Amino acid sequence: MSTKPANIPADSKEVSDADWWRQAAVYQIYPRSFSDSNGDGLGDINGITAKVPYLDKLGVDAVWLSPFYPSALADGGYDVDDYRDVDPKLGTLADFDKMVAALHAAGIKLVVDIVPNHSSDRHEWFKEALAAPKGSAARDRYIFRDGLGENGDLPPSDWDSKFGGRAWERVTEPDGTPGQWYLHIFAKEQPDFNWDNPEVREDFLETLRFWSDRGVDGFRIDVAHALTKDLSEPLPSKTELPVEGSGVDGLADGSHPFWDRDEVHGIYAEWRKVFNEYTPPRTGVAEAWVHADRRARYASPEGLGQAFNFDLLQADFDAEQFRSIIIKNLAEAAASGASSTWVFSNHDVIRHATRYGLPDGTGRNGPARAWLKSAGSEPALDRALGERRARAATLLMLALPGSAYLYQGEELGLHEVVDIPATDRQDPAFFRNPGVEIGRDGCRVPLPWTSEGVAFGFGEAAPHLPQPDWFSTYAVASQEMEPGSTLALYREALRLRGSLQTDELLKWLDASHDSVLHFTRPNGWQSVTNFGTAPVKLPAGTVVLSSGPLTDGNLPADTTAWII
Ligand code: GLC
Repeated sequence: MSTKPANIPADSKEVSDADWWRQAAVYQIYPRSFSDSNGDGLGDINGITAKVPYLDKLGVDAVWLSPFYPSALADGGYDVDDYRDVDPKLGTLADFDKMVAALHAAGIKLVVDIVPNHSSDRHEWFKEALAAPKGSAARDRYIFRDGLGENGDLPPSDWDSKFGGRAWERVTEPDGTPGQWYLHIFAKEQPDFNWDNPEVREDFLETLRFWSDRGVDGFRIDVAHALTKDLSEPLPSKTELPVEGSGVDGLADGSHPFWDRDEVHGIYAEWRKVFNEYTPPRTGVAEAWVHADRRARYASPEGLGQAFNFDLLQADFDAEQFRSIIIKNLAEAAASGASSTWVFSNHDVIRHATRYGLPDGTGRNGPARAWLKSAGSEPALDRALGERRARAATLLMLALPGSAYLYQGEELGLHEVVDIPATDRQDPAFFRNPGVEIGRDGCRVPLPWTSEGVAFGFGEAAPHLPQPDWFSTYAVASQEMEPGSTLALYREALRLRGSLQTDELLKWLDASHDSVLHFTRPNGWQSVTNFGTAPVKLPAGTVVLSSGPLTDGNLPADTTAWII
C-alpha cells in the first residue's frame, strides 16, 4: 500500500523544544481502559509504562492522560478526590514517576488532564464544607445557596445538570436538618468550585506546579469555559437562560451566566505565568465547547496556548464541510498565534469509524446517539464503510498544519461498543437520563491487545466494561501481522508525518471534482481525499501513502493519498 519516499523534502521542519506542541500528534489514553498490569480489571499506570514501546512504535509525540487521580468514578475519574495524588486503584506517585521517565526516555511528552470546574464530593474541601455552617469560609470554596420556598426545600433555580436531572443538590446540615443546596453543572458527585474564592485559585496554581515539577509537559483543561459564573440573584429560570446552537455552550458575546464568561481568561493568564516558570514552558489545551469566534481567546499565547477545535468531529464525511472548517480554523489559529487542533474521536463521543459507517445524515454525534439507543434495529451500521472513511479522514487530518489528537483504539479502527448491558454501564449520563441517553461507555471499553484470552490481553481479569467478541479481529496482535491494517497505516502515517512536517501553512490545489479535497504544504507534501462515490484520477507525483488500495492511477471513493 505504501511506497517509501525517495527523499524527504529539504525544508521539513526541525522543531524547537518550546514549540513541540504546535504540530504534535497527541495520543489520548483513558487510563482505566488502556492496560491492566495487576489483574484487577482496571487499567493502571504500570500498564501504561509497559506499553511505552507500543506508543513509541506508533510514533506519537505526546500522550494525554485522562484523569488518574483518586476518584470514586462517579464520572470516569472526572470527579477528583485529590488533585495531587494517583488513584491507589491505578498505582502510586512512584509508579507515575516511572511512567514519566519511560515516556521521556522514548521522546514522548506527557499532558495530564486538569479538572478545575468541580471536585468530587469526596474531596477534603467538600467534606469540610458539609461539616461547616452556612456562610463559612469552607462553604465559600463551593457554590452553596439557600433553597426557595418556605422551608428552603425548593432548589435555588430550576437549572438542569449537563448529565440530566437538576443542577442543585440539597445537603443535610451538621445538626441533621435539611439545609442548603450546592450547584453541580455535571453529576451530583461533582460540586462546582467557586472561582471567585482566592484559595481555590491558589490551590490550582499549586497543583499545576506539583505536576510540572514531576516532569509533566502540559495540561488539558476540562470544561475550561465553565469556571467563572455570574450567580447574582435572582437567578434566572432555565427558560430565560440563553441557548446557542447545538454543540456549543455559551453565547457569542459571553453574556451567559455560567458558560464562557470573559472573566475566565483572568484565571488562564495566571496559569500562563506558572507555565512560563518552566523550561520549556508547560503547555495548555482548553476543552471549551464555545462559539467558534470565541475559541481563540482560550488559545492565545497569554492564555492556555491551544484550544480543541471540535468542528471536524461534528461534521459529516463531506468535502465541503471539511474544507470550510479547515479554512476557518487555520485562519483563526493564525490570528491568535496558536496552532490549530484537530480531533475526530475522544472519550466523550461516538468513535469516528462508527459515525462514518451510519447512513448519510446520521453520522453526526447527535443522531448517531439516537442510533445507538435503537441499536440492532434501524439504521444499520456499515462497519467496512465506516473504517474506510475513518482512515481517509485521519490521513487527511494528519497532513493538516497543527496538532492532531488521537484517541486510544482509533489506530485499530475500533468501533463503538453498543451492546453493553445496563447493569455494566458506568456513565452518569446514562443513569441520569433513563431511556433517553445511552452514555459514553461504548468508546471506553478496554483495548484488545491480543485476539484471544480473558480480556483480549488487556489484563488477567474480566475488564471493568465488557468487551464484545468482535474485538478479537481488531486486536493489536492481529493487526501487527497484517501490512494493510489500520494499525500499520497509523504507524506509517505518523512516521512519515514526523519527517514531512513543515511550516504551518496550507495551500489548496485545484481539485478535479467538488467532492475531492487536495492541498499542499510548503515543502510539497500533498494530501488528496476523494469524498465522492466514484474513483478520480490521482494528481501527478509519487504516492508515499494511501488510506486504502489505489487502482490504475485512480483514487477510489473514501480514500486519501499522500503525494510528494
Ligand atoms: C469533560 C470531560 C467529560 C466529563 C466532563 C465533566 O467534558 O471530557 O468526560 O464528563 O467534562 O468533567
